[in-house]
Amino acid sequence: MSSYSERARAILPGGVNSPVRAWNGVGGEPVPIVEAHGSRIVDAEGREMIDLVASWGPAILGHAHPTVVAAVKEAAARGLSFGATTEAEVELAELIRERYAPAERVRLVSTGTEATMTAIRLARAATGRHKFIKFAGCYHGHSDALLVAAGSGLATSGVPDSAGVTPGAAQDTIVLPYGDEAALTAAFAEHGSEVAAVITEAAPANMGVVAPPAGFNRLISTLCRNEGAVMILDEVLTGFRAGPAGYWGVERDHDVAADLDPWTPDLVTFGKVIGGGLPVAALGGRRDLMEQLAPLGPVYQAGTLSGNPVAVAAGLATMRLLTDEVHGRVAEAATSLRDGVSGALTAAGITHAVGSAGTLFSIFLGLESAPVTFEQVAGQDTAAFARLFHALRREGVALPPSAYEAWFVSAAHTASDVDHIVATVAAWAQSERDSRGA
Ligand SMILES: Cc1ncc(COP(=O)(O)O)c(C=O)c1O
Repeated sequence: MSSYSERARAILPGGVNSPVRAWNGVGGEPVPIVEAHGSRIVDAEGREMIDLVASWGPAILGHAHPTVVAAVKEAAARGLSFGATTEAEVELAELIRERYAPAERVRLVSTGTEATMTAIRLARAATGRHKFIKFAGCYHGHSDALLVAAGSGLATSGVPDSAGVTPGAAQDTIVLPYGDEAALTAAFAEHGSEVAAVITEAAPANMGVVAPPAGFNRLISTLCRNEGAVMILDEVLTGFRAGPAGYWGVERDHDVAADLDPWTPDLVTFGKVIGGGLPVAALGGRRDLMEQLAPLGPVYQAGTLSGNPVAVAAGLATMRLLTDEVHGRVAEAATSLRDGVSGALTAAGITHAVGSAGTLFSIFLGLESAPVTFEQVAGQDTAAFARLFHALRREGVALPPSAYEAWFVSAAHTASDVDHIVATVAAWAQSERDSRGA
C-alpha cells in the first residue's frame, strides 16, 4: 500500500469520498490523479493513461477543455457565489429546454441525487399518492426511498438496500425487474391508484449499459398517463451524452423515423454533462408540475449553492461546445472502440456481450447475449473483468474499476487512442485464452 493510500484511509472512510472510486470490484489500490487533459489523465506516480472514466460521465469534451477552463476562471474572478439568480443560470436552463423539449421548466440543483429526490417529492405532491415504482439495477442517487431493493415478492414493498434506510422509507418503493412488461403491468393492476410515479433510467447505465427493450419506455409512459401517475425519466448519466437530446432523443428520432408519435416523460432529471465537471444537476418537466415547486407552489426544495455561478459557467461552456458535430465525434469514437474491443474478444474466443445505448456502451465478459435485467447482468465474469482492468492499466488505459460501469469516451479520444485500447484488449484476450486453455 502506498503512503498516499495509508494517509487517505486514515482520514477518509475507505480512502475515498465516493465508494465507486475504491477498487473493491477489481482489487488493488487506486493511485490519486493529479491532472487530466483531453483524453488523458495523469496519476501521482507520473503515469499518463487514456481515460475511459471521464469523471463518470461529465467529461464529454475531454478533460480541461481550454474554453471551459477559461469560462470558469472568468466566472470565478467575478465572484464565487451570490445566493441570487444570475443570467447564466437562465441561459443554461433555456439551453436545456431548447435541446430537450419535455423540460418545459427547469430547476437547477447541485447533484443528481437532489434532482431525483425532488422529482419523487413533486410526483407525490402532485398525485396525492405515496408509492412509486423503480427497477432493480437502475441507480438514481442515494436518497433513502431510492436505496431500496426488491422485496420477496414482485410488486410488493421494497426493502432497504443500505443500512440506515428505515423500513418506513422503503415501504412505498416497489422494485421490479428491468424491462419486464408483464411485471410492470401487473404492478399497476394491483397498485395503480396508489402509484405516484415510475422512475427509470432513460437507458440503464449503472449495471453496465443496457438497451431498453423496444417499447419499454413507451409502455411506462402510457401506463403512467392512463393511471394518473408521473413518469420520471432519469437522464443524469445519459442526458446530452447518449445523444444530443439524451437517450429520450435517441428513441424520439427512432419513433419519428418509424412514423410513431414520440412518447414524453413528465419529469426528467439531468446531471453530469450539464455541469461539465462541476456540480450542476437539474430537474425539468411539465410546466404544471414544475410550478408546484416553491416559491410558486407547496413543494419545498432549496439549495445554498444551487445554480452556483462558477459551476454554471462550466456547464454553459460545455453545453455550448456540445454541437451535433461534437456529438458525432463522440459517437464515432464510441462505435469504433466498442466494435474494436468486441472484435478483439471474439477473435480470441472470449465469450462476451456488448450493451449499447446511443453512444454509451459496456462489455459484459462471460455473457452470451446482452443482458436486460440486473439478475442477467450479475451473471457476468467479474474476475475476468478485474484481470482485463489491470492489464489495461499496465498499458496506460484507465477503465472504470467495476464491471458494472459504462466505458466512457469523449470527443477528445482519437483514432490512435482507440487503436491502442483495442490492441491492448486483443493482447489481453490472447493471453487470457492461452491461460484458460492451459
Ligand atoms: C442515472 C443516475 N441518476 C442519479 C445519479 C446520482 O447523481 P449524483 O452522483 O450527482 O448524486 C447518478 C450518478 O451516477 C446516475 O447515474
